[in-house]
Amino acid sequence: MYIDKFIEEIEIGLKILFSPSLSNRPRPDKKISNKVNLSSAIKKKNAKLMRVNHSGEICAQALYRGQLLFNEDKKIEKSLQKAAGEEIDHLAWCEERIGELNGKTSLLNPILYIGSIGIGGIASIIDKKYNLGFLAETEKQVSSHLDKHLTKLSKNDVKTKKILEQMKFDEQQHEIAAKELGAAELPKPIKKAMGITSKIMTTLTYKI
Ligand SMILES: [Fe+2]
Ligand SMILES: [Fe+2]
Repeated sequence: MYIDKFIEEIEIGLKILFSPSLSNRPRPDKKISNKVNLSSAIKKKNAKLMRVNHSGEICAQALYRGQLLFNEDKKIEKSLQKAAGEEIDHLAWCEERIGELNGKTSLLNPILYIGSIGIGGIASIIDKKYNLGFLAETEKQVSSHLDKHLTKLSKNDVKTKKILEQMKFDEQQHEIAAKELGAAELPKPIKKAMGITSKIMTTLTYKI
């Protein structure tokens, strides 16, 4: 039983990391023309920002997989799966946009995936309300991170902006859903540690 689950998780992980992701929803920037000429410097910068966001979505997938590992609450499972499905959309949108901006995804993604699935798994063992609390805090930090990226983007890159705006909206909904299911407020040092970890992650993936 555990071996089967373990093998299934490895298969899912490999698919997320090495196969192109397919979104369920249309891209938020679908109606916006791709004809705006962005300079190569802007493309390069925005591709790097999107690489950071793509890696964040890799982490999100792994966190959700981890949080489902030992969770036995059906209501939480349903909510986690719904959110994970929307994160797959984010992953696909980021991946496609990076390609359009002639960028590359991060080489660190496999390490980030393994680390995040471990963290999610630990959160799911500790306690139901802290598992949700961890999720709510993650989504909150991701929303404020996306806000920062929205200010860093070149104003001409409306397509990337549109994608990030929809992602931010979804992350806020995920935070609300986790709170409605009974998320506990995490202790301040944990929140701080999460912020530091995400800062390291975003700095590294901007470069590699
Ligand atoms: Fe996301
Ligand atoms: Fe999210």
